[in-house]
Amino acid sequence: MLNEDMTITRVTRTRAETRATYDRISRWYDPLEGYWESKPKQIGLQKLGVQSGEVALEIGFGTGHGIVALAQVVGELGKVYGIDLSPRMLALTQSRVNQTGLAARVMLKNGDATALPFDANFFDAIFMSFVLELFDTPEIPQVLSECRRVLKHDGRLCVVSLSKTGQATWRRNLYEWGHEKFPSLLDCRPLYVQKALEAAGLQTREATRMLLWELPVEIVVGSK
Ligand SMILES: C[S@@+](CC[C@H](N)C(=O)[O-])C[C@H]1O[C@@H](n2cnc3c(N)ncnc32)[C@H](O)[C@@H]1O
Repeated sequence: MLNEDMTITRVTRTRAETRATYDRISRWYDPLEGYWESKPKQIGLQKLGVQSGEVALEIGFGTGHGIVALAQVVGELGKVYGIDLSPRMLALTQSRVNQTGLAARVMLKNGDATALPFDANFFDAIFMSFVLELFDTPEIPQVLSECRRVLKHDGRLCVVSLSKTGQATWRRNLYEWGHEKFPSLLDCRPLYVQKALEAAGLQTREATRMLLWELPVEIVVGSK
């Protein structure tokens, strides 16, 4: 475990730089990345299995497609919260939510996932796709511990992330080389997702692997 963790690339970008990057690309995010990543996101949301009446959180909601999908399933009796570092992503998502007429059941906040601005034992479900990869290695347990804190007893968390688990492939090596050379451009780096959740005290309910542009992706549902 220790050896594997040590092979995860460190992240040196500051929060201000991350915020500025996502503010800058918010309008272009869907055609550049969002649509291409939609399959694993949809599978993750399905596996999280949010029910009518539940209270759900999406961390790093980006352009807001996940927030809308969650708001549709929680129904009138449920509530969806979102937190994202980028004010422009928030503005874009808020306008998407307003257009769908679901604003009464959605609450969006700007903030940092290493310090979630929510009470303990508050959420039935948390969703995070292509976000955990952006945190520096020592921050990953911090984010997951925050998720554990705000989840209700038996609450569940689904993480969709590029994966370093399993045999290295030339494509993954190439991608990681690209990440090291151009960390602002290829900012998500592969992680040991299931192991990270388990190290944070979350029990694995289901772990699925798939390929995205031939890069391994883990979709892990854990529970408190
Ligand atoms: C790669 S995008 C993924 C967006 C969305 N989850 C998706 O799958 O389309 C990463 C998102 O995480 C947000 N983000 C980055 N660092 C964050 C942090 N420290 N706390 C909260 N959100 C963060 C970014 O602003 C951006 O919207």
